[in-house]
This record gives sequence, C-alpha cells and structure tokens, in this order.
Amino acid sequence: KAMYVSPRQNEPPLVPYWIPFIGSAITMGIDPIKFYRDRQKEYGNYYTYILFGRRMVTCLGAEGNNLVFNAKLADASAEEAYRSLTVPVFGKGVVYDVHNSVLMEQKKFVKAGLSVENLRAYIPMIEMETKNYLSRWNKKSDVQDIHKAMAELIILTASRCLLGEEVRSKMDESFAQIFHDLDGGFKPINFLFDDLPLPSNRLRDKAHVKMRHFFIDIMKHRRDTGKVDSTDVMQYLATNCQYKSGRSLTDMEVAHIMIAMLMAGQHTSSTTSAWAFLYLALNPELFDKLRQEQIEILGSLDAPLTYDSLKQLTLHDNIVRETLRLRPPILHIIRKVVRDMTIPGTTYVIPKDAYVQCIPAITARSDEFFENAEEFNPYRWKDYDLQNKERDDDLVDYGFGALSASARSPVLPFGAGRHRCIGEPFAYVQIKTILATFVRTFNLELHNNKFPECDFTTMMVQPKQPMVKYTRVDC
Ligand code: HEM
Repeated sequence: KAMYVSPRQNEPPLVPYWIPFIGSAITMGIDPIKFYRDRQKEYGNYYTYILFGRRMVTCLGAEGNNLVFNAKLADASAEEAYRSLTVPVFGKGVVYDVHNSVLMEQKKFVKAGLSVENLRAYIPMIEMETKNYLSRWNKKSDVQDIHKAMAELIILTASRCLLGEEVRSKMDESFAQIFHDLDGGFKPINFLFDDLPLPSNRLRDKAHVKMRHFFIDIMKHRRDTGKVDSTDVMQYLATNCQYKSGRSLTDMEVAHIMIAMLMAGQHTSSTTSAWAFLYLALNPELFDKLRQEQIEILGSLDAPLTYDSLKQLTLHDNIVRETLRLRPPILHIIRKVVRDMTIPGTTYVIPKDAYVQCIPAITARSDEFFENAEEFNPYRWKDYDLQNKERDDDLVDYGFGALSASARSPVLPFGAGRHRCIGEPFAYVQIKTILATFVRTFNLELHNNKFPECDFTTMMVQPKQPMVKYTRVDC
C-alpha cells in the first residue's frame, strides 16, 4: 500500500507515495498530464506531491495559474527555483544570478533590442536560411526527422538574427560543437540537483567559457573595426543599454544575456515548430489552405515575405497558436516559496521552502475552456480579437502572438506576470517565416500514419520519433 503521510498544518492534501524521497517522481515523470489530471479529480485544484525530497505544491485551474504567475516577490522566487539549472549555463551576473529588479532591467534591454525595425530585418534572413537548409531535401519524396530539422534550423536562424553574421558563419564548424556541449548541461537533472559531477556538466562548463569568449571577441573586434551597422541584439545590448544607475552593460553581461536568449529560444521554438509540422502532417489538407492564404495576401508563392505581409497571414498564426495550446513546450512553471503563502479563497497555506507550481497546459487542454479540447483545430482562433483582450501595460504589441497577458487566461504558453517571455514576438516571426517558406515547397504526411507521443523526460515536451514523409509540391 502507498504511504499516507499527513500534510503539514493547513498544507494542501499530500499525494500518497511508495518510496520516501523519490515520492511521486516516477508516476509524474511517465505522463505528467495524466498525473496532474487524475490527482485534480481526486483532490481538486490544489495538492502537494513529493519529488526527490521536494514538496511540490501544485496549483491548477485559472486561479492556480494566476497564483503562481502573479505571486509576490516576497512570497515566491523564480531564481531560487531555476538557479541550479541556469546559472552554470547562462553565466554570472544575469537572469537568475541577480536580484529580480536587475533581471527586469535586462529583460527591458532585450525587448528593446527585439524592436519592430530589427524584426523586419530578420524575416528575409530567416527566409533565406530556411530555403538554403531545405535545399538539402532535394528528392521527390523522402522521410525526415522533423524535430532534428527544426532544431538545426532554429539555431541557424537565431544565431544569425540575434548574434550576427560572425556567429552564423561559424555555425557549421566550431560554434555548433560548443553549443551542443553547453546544451548537454541544460537538463532536468540539473534542476533537481545542484552541480552534480557528471561528464556532461564538465563539458557544459568548458563550453560556457568558450562561448563567452567567442561573443566577447566579436564585440571587441566590432569596436576595433568600427562596425556599427548590425541589426543583431548583441550589438544593441553592447551599445545602447544602461542600467538605471547609469552603468552600461559589461561585455561579459552582454555575452551571458545572449547565451540565455539562445538557450531560452532553442528548445521552445524548435519543439513548437516540430509539433506544428506534425499537426499539419496529421491534417494535410491545411497545406493547400496555407498556400491559398499566401496567394491571397501576397499575390503569389514567389513574393518575398515581409513583416507586414506575415502579420496578415492569420491561418499561419492560428496554426502556431493552436500548436502552443496543445503542446506548450514548457510544462512546469515553478517558484520556490520564501515565505508562507496563503491560497486565496481557501484555508490552505503553502509552507516556506516548498515549491509552488502551475501547469498551464492543464487549463489549455481542458474541455471546461475549449470545445473538443484535445482536437487540433486552428479555426477555433478565427474570430479571436487581439484588441479586446486584457494586456500587460508594458507588453509591446508587435501584432504577433500575444494571446492574452492576463494570468487568468486558460492558454499561457509564454507565461504571464513579471517573468513573462520577452521572446514571443521573435518566436512568432521565426516560426511563421519558417512555416510560410516550408509550405511553398513541401507537403507532409505522417510516417507510417503515426502521430508521435510526447517525450516528457526532456527539458521541453518533445515528440517521440517525429518522422515525416515530405513530397515536393512541384513534383
Ligand atoms: C520566459 C515560453 C521563446 C526568452 C518564458 C516563460 C515561458 C516561456 C513559459 C515564463 C517562465 C516562468 O514564468 O517561469 C517560451 C516559448 C517560446 C519562447 C513557448 C517559443 C515558442 C523565447 C525566445 C527567447 C525567450 C525566442 C529569447 C529570444 C525568455 C526570457 C524569459 C522567458 C528572457 C524571462 C524569464 C524570467 O523573467 O524569469 N518563456 N519562450 N523565450 N523567455 Fe521565453
């Protein structure tokens, strides 16, 4: 029989478990969505489970999402939750290695660097990279791993846009290996355990130093040679940003912020685009619909993609949005509780030192909020009016994405509140440009008619064996 352990005083109910310390890690890890839904039926929206000795207080429903996303700084800390995973990868002095007020300033810098003007410049770059990459798919028809392809394409396009041509030109050789080694240290195990002596962590640490120097050298070289015409975010941070104190960013801080941006965007955007193509392969009639939309808006399938035309491709937009509803890459939003927190409207208290988490995928995939919630239906967003939605005051409207900034929205793939994603406009520009370029040349089908299951063992929810069969449209 599973162990029944009493919750602490006023703590939400505790899920029984078999093995001390390990707690519910195995059942949760195999299928988290099922685990959270089943326990929700049993205990309601608030319950605690044990994960490798940690007390994970789970808050579900729209109110649960809001409680975590809008938790006060004095109650709950993101840096305490994410530090062990991120600081060795991103580096010192940025993101979760600094006080939250400094992170807020750093996020404002990046947001300003992702200006509409820069996003405009990125679209032709992404289109060109995508065409070049897909020119390798030169058979009439073949089977490919769509997740692997998207991971390669996302790092190529992100490095070109965010870091500039120097980094992109090294992507095919030295930089790819450094990135690979650094990425090997961005694993769930590093969230759970501080600095384990694993070979992958040693490679991670070496790669971090190499990457930092690589970026710092580029900034120095640009200064020495007077190169200032760049649209990349690294250049923007190096020349245009000052803290409120009047201090400029050091080269090391710029390098570390850029590493953080690359890592934050890589798995999120590559899994999202892979799932989007898998859903299209499941619904192949959508390929013609996407091409029709492009012909209507752009006049032809040869017209260059631009910021303004891309904005009008609403079916493309809705495919990304629906993919993010069903397969948000980040499942768990976690904070460490630094002061006892009362759950509003209940008698529950979340004790200091526990972790509090919400799982927005549960509301996003719930029939309570969406008809046939598990079905991929991009048309459900057809009449969605961005203008009528509640927004964060400081959320810049780029016209891309930005479902709703309210933390009570059932769909929150980019989070909400002070830790909300600032990469969303870039992610939409990147994924939509890849999608629009791809459908001009290819149709997809699922390989062996099999829609992949979710792999929950990785940092982001990835598709297992994501094989697709492409066929060239012109054949
Ligand atoms: C934060 C999702 C792409 C940079 C977040 C959060 C989510 C998220 C859910 C909130 C985390 C939390 O509250 O704990 C996504 C998804 C993406 C994406 C689904 C793509 C489909 C990007 C890109 C960048 C980026 C491309 C950078 C260019 C950040 C940053 C934060 C963040 C800096 C803030 C972290 C904080 O304040 O604690 N993202 N992201 N993201 N994301 Fe993204």
